[in-house]
Amino acid sequence: MLLAKSTWIEIKTYLEKSSTIVIPIGSNEQHGPTGLLGTDWMCPEIIANEAERQADLLVAPTFNIGMAQHHLGFPGTISLRPSTFIAAICDWSRSLALHGFEHLYFLNGHGGNVATIEAAFSELYAEASFGGRGRGFACKLVNWWDLEGVGELSGRLFPTGHGMHATPSEIAITQWAYPESIKSASYRPRVAATGPVREALDFRQRYPDGRMGSDPAQASPDKGESLVSVAATSLTADVAQFAAESERHESQF
Ligand code: NI
Repeated sequence: MLLAKSTWIEIKTYLEKSSTIVIPIGSNEQHGPTGLLGTDWMCPEIIANEAERQADLLVAPTFNIGMAQHHLGFPGTISLRPSTFIAAICDWSRSLALHGFEHLYFLNGHGGNVATIEAAFSELYAEASFGGRGRGFACKLVNWWDLEGVGELSGRLFPTGHGMHATPSEIAITQWAYPESIKSASYRPRVAATGPVREALDFRQRYPDGRMGSDPAQASPDKGESLVSVAATSLTADVAQFAAESERHESQF
């Protein structure tokens, strides 16, 4: 079930049986010469939508702008500051909580988002504690590449040149979902350099074409399809476990 394609009446009915929702979250930022700017929000959305086709999940609209400050040296990148990102995540979550969603599962597509999403969770938990709300409100953050079986499959598909930005895994997933948008380029060097991540001008100088440690030429739609398949199955199982651990709790401590 996709929230955006549901009515409020359908959501009200859903809330009578479940208080769990999956929120794809990512970033809109450069992904090297062939990676789509939307890669980091597309991957969690593609995986969540695939899981939704196979199982009884509710998927929220994708939160598609995140922490991309270090990519601002490349056109098309859009970034929030940490304080704005925290405020926006908290308002999304408060809106959902207002209607009874108590178990928010964020499926993340950008490593640079992790610290700030966790800080937003701490804000929400502080409100729950200070506000004396009943026990039960829970947030979970999972990176799609950490879903069970995904890292192992990536390692087998791309034993070298996986890297950490504009990886063949994420580019393969977008190639499978959007074959009409597959790009090509000749990469020099074939495997990009690695190093620290600092501010935008430093990043552009260290990583001139935007890649970090990766060789995206290894990506293909069929590899993307197998990654999505493993990730969607694991997501379904993980969300079911989260929902089961998070039944409504009425007790106060
Ligand atoms: Ni990425």
